[in-house]
Amino acid sequence: MKIVVIGGTGLIGSRLVKRLREHGQEVVAASPSSGVNSVTGEGLAQALKGASVVVDVTNSPSWEDAAVLKFFETSTRNLLSHEASAGVGHHVALSVVGTERLLESGFFRAKLAQEDLIKASSIPYSIVRATQFFEFVKQVADFSTEGNKVRLPPALFQPMAADDVAIALDKIAMSPPVKTTIEIGGPEQFRLDELVRQDLAARKDPREVISDPGARYFGIAVSERALVPNDNARLGETRFEDWISHAMKQVSKADLQRA
Ligand SMILES: NC(=O)c1ccc[n+]([C@@H]2O[C@H](COP(=O)([O-])OP(=O)(O)OC[C@H]3O[C@@H](n4cnc5c(N)ncnc54)[C@H](OP(=O)(O)O)[C@@H]3O)[C@@H](O)[C@H]2O)c1
Repeated sequence: MKIVVIGGTGLIGSRLVKRLREHGQEVVAASPSSGVNSVTGEGLAQALKGASVVVDVTNSPSWEDAAVLKFFETSTRNLLSHEASAGVGHHVALSVVGTERLLESGFFRAKLAQEDLIKASSIPYSIVRATQFFEFVKQVADFSTEGNKVRLPPALFQPMAADDVAIALDKIAMSPPVKTTIEIGGPEQFRLDELVRQDLAARKDPREVISDPGARYFGIAVSERALVPNDNARLGETRFEDWISHAMKQVSKADLQRA
C-alpha cells in the first residue's frame, strides 16, 4: 500500500513515516523541503500517483487569523482535489480535541474549516482529533509568560506524547476509513496550571506558575472541560512523568556531548 504523509517532516509526520515504514508500507514523506507543497499544489500530482491513503499532518507556518485560515482551506482543497484525480481511497487528517469549543481562536476556526471541507468531499475519510502534545506544553507556558510569571487557568488537561499520536495514526491509516471523527488523548488528566508547573520544574525553569481561573489559554477563555476528550477516546500509554524524565535525560546527554 502506498501512503503519502503530507507534513512528513514535522513532529508527528516524521514519527508516523518511521512507523509506517517499519510496518512495510511504501511511504512518501511529503513537505515543501521535498518539493511537495499542499498550498501551491507543487509536486502533489506526482507524489499522489498510485497512492491508496493520504495522511495530512501539516501545520501552518503562521497562526495569524487570516493566514492560518487561508493555509488550511487552500491546502485541504488542493489535497482533496488531487486525491480525487489520483483515486485515493482514504484521507486521514489530524485535528484537535475540543475544536468546536475553542472557536474564539482563529487557529481553531481554521481547523474546523479543514474538518468541514473533508466531511463535504467525496473522499472517504478519518478525522483524528488529538489532545495537546507533551512536546507542546512548554509553548503553552511561553505564550502565557509575563516577566517571570506564567498565568494559567486550572482547566482540565489530558495531553499525550507525540509518539502515541503517531501510533494511533499508523493504525488508522492502515485500516479502512471510519467516515467519522475519532478522539485520542493521554492516559491521565491534569489541571493545566499544575502540569505546566511540573514541566517547568523538570526543566529547572525558574518561572512561577500562577493559577488564575480568569487567565486565558493561547489568548482565549476555556471552560473546565474544553480541552479534554470524550469518554470513547482512544488513550495513549505514555505517562507525562515518564516522558519528561526521559526527555530531560536526552537533553543532559546532548549537553554532555557538546561539552
Ligand atoms: N500542537 C499540538 O499540541 C496539537 C494537538 C493536536 C493536533 N495538532 C495538529 O497536529 C498537526 C501537526 O502538528 P505538528 O506539531 O506535527 O506540526 P509541525 O511539526 O509544525 O510540522 C508541520 C509539517 O507541515 C509541513 N508543511 C508546512 N507547510 C506545508 C505546505 N505548504 N505543504 C506541505 N507541507 C507543509 C512542514 O514541512 P517543512 O518541515 O518542510 O516546513 C512540516 O512537515 C497540526 O495540524 C496541528 O493542528 C497539534
